[in-house]
Amino acid sequence: MALSPAAAVAVFFFLAMLVGGDAAVVEHTFVVSQVRMNRACKDTLVTVVNGQLPGPAIEVTEGDSVVVHVVNKSPHGLTIHWHGVKQRLNCWADGVGMITQCPIQPGKNFTYRFNVAGQEGTLWWHAHVASLRATVHGALIIRPRSGGDAGTLYPFPRPHKEVPIFIGEWWDVDLVELDMRMADGFFDDYPVNATINGMLGDLYDCAGASEDIYVMQVEPGKTYMLRIVNVALLSRYYLKIAGHRFTVVAADANYVKPYNTDVIAIAPGESMDALVVADAPHGKYYMVALANQPPLPDQQIPVFSSRGVLQYSYNPIKGEDPTVINSLMVPEMPDQHDMMTSFYFHGNLTGATPHPPLPINVDDRLFISLALGSICRGSHVPLPSSPCRGYDVNESISVATMNNVSFQLPTKVSLLEAHYRGNMSIAGKLHELPDKPPTEYNYTDKTMIPWGSKEAALESTTKAMSVRMFRFNTTVEIVFQSTAILNSDANPMHLHGHDFFVLAQGLGNYDAERDAGSYNLVDPPVRNTVLVPPVGWAAIRFVTDNPGVWFLHCHYGFHTSMGMAVAFEVENGQSSDMTLPPPPIDLPRCEHHGNSVAYQ
Ligand code: C2O
Repeated sequence: MALSPAAAVAVFFFLAMLVGGDAAVVEHTFVVSQVRMNRACKDTLVTVVNGQLPGPAIEVTEGDSVVVHVVNKSPHGLTIHWHGVKQRLNCWADGVGMITQCPIQPGKNFTYRFNVAGQEGTLWWHAHVASLRATVHGALIIRPRSGGDAGTLYPFPRPHKEVPIFIGEWWDVDLVELDMRMADGFFDDYPVNATINGMLGDLYDCAGASEDIYVMQVEPGKTYMLRIVNVALLSRYYLKIAGHRFTVVAADANYVKPYNTDVIAIAPGESMDALVVADAPHGKYYMVALANQPPLPDQQIPVFSSRGVLQYSYNPIKGEDPTVINSLMVPEMPDQHDMMTSFYFHGNLTGATPHPPLPINVDDRLFISLALGSICRGSHVPLPSSPCRGYDVNESISVATMNNVSFQLPTKVSLLEAHYRGNMSIAGKLHELPDKPPTEYNYTDKTMIPWGSKEAALESTTKAMSVRMFRFNTTVEIVFQSTAILNSDANPMHLHGHDFFVLAQGLGNYDAERDAGSYNLVDPPVRNTVLVPPVGWAAIRFVTDNPGVWFLHCHYGFHTSMGMAVAFEVENGQSSDMTLPPPPIDLPRCEHHGNSVAYQ
């Protein structure tokens, strides 16, 4: 049936009202400042938003627009990144220092504007300069578009309440200095301990008085949706609640097939939505977050753990006693060295339909090794040609690498601005990320973890502005390989501006012939962060459908600061709806910044 132009316009507006009529503009003002907080017997100056830790939650409905006025009253230049928001045709609002913009300088303001479309679930926002995200962070909750009388349309029964659970860490050091030390190869700082919703909990006390503990009140028989985010810089965590189970329903704001488990494994950058039914006898139950500790022969770090409480409301008429302590109250945690519980947890997540179709024909394949290495202090000369000795902090700087290059941020102009001006090299000397590591070796040989000759031969690396350019609409497959050079860390790799399919993960070295057969091409989960297992690999696939410059990095704070990152440059497509618009006129420019903090 052909419509007259006028009728077509009327139909268009009618449809627009149906699908977009109730989209709202959600506006916030974020005042970033330093406040003194007393934790663990010590006053610490912390940078926070609106005086809160965690910062304010942004709650929106899918399709809404978000406007956030950032007022920087802190002494640090900073940006705010909207972790997981796809920012289609809106790379300028991605908020990555020196990648998409120059930092908002002290005393200055900037307003971020973006839409949240085609995504629902739990995301979060955080500072993306130095390690400030340890305290500058908050939830970004996207609810499904309301379906009229049916109420909010989750693909599962509507929970009684939704509860953010932020697993983080309390640091009593200056986080900007911490970052500079890490970028300089010194890594000898640890957090005081883990936190749940910013609180250390009762495992930590100050002169005999327990620290604040997070308490979640529940009513018997009701279902709660936990919106769990790992906002920590240092560790991945196991989360359990004594006497209760979880049904994971979403990860990184993408629905997964409901997965029933008694433990959640969550790495920095990941978010999970999990239903918990308050179906235990009334009482108090601990929820425990326990950090993973790398297994030997890795260098051991302290064990971090925090507790909160799930507390049932009680009914005195029924003779219930609020002082009853249930015998199940402390959950039995996995061993802190247990890597397999996390491996299986992540492997058990599958995507829920409907999800975007999985592209079958791959245009570009990358194999990316994730490792540590070193450069000589005072120069960027590779080791074999120079006299400095590897992994000695006085002579060399340990760095983190992707395909044996450690990422260096530009200092004069953001990469996105350089891209927009059509000349990436105005940001500095570029290094093209190769398709595979320059040297192939047995990536997962654990004898390379302590310093030794085998490892030393592979340790030398370079510091460079590592970029990779893609045509618009390229289907990219990446296999990330965690290596055993100097450590056996897992690596939560996070891509900006795109969600991706996680096709498979495995232990040991990736073997294309054997492992491509294990790909889940039926219901792979859709994520923005993939946890690459320690001395193992993970494969992802995505389409470059969003022009701009997008950071890809490990979400461990120290790995980011040490350079485990690359910038993906995605070209414009053929038409205007595939083209990056001009920058907002008030976008902070770099010419103004005085000091040179490591801008990650
Ligand atoms: Cu959560 Cu590059 O960020």
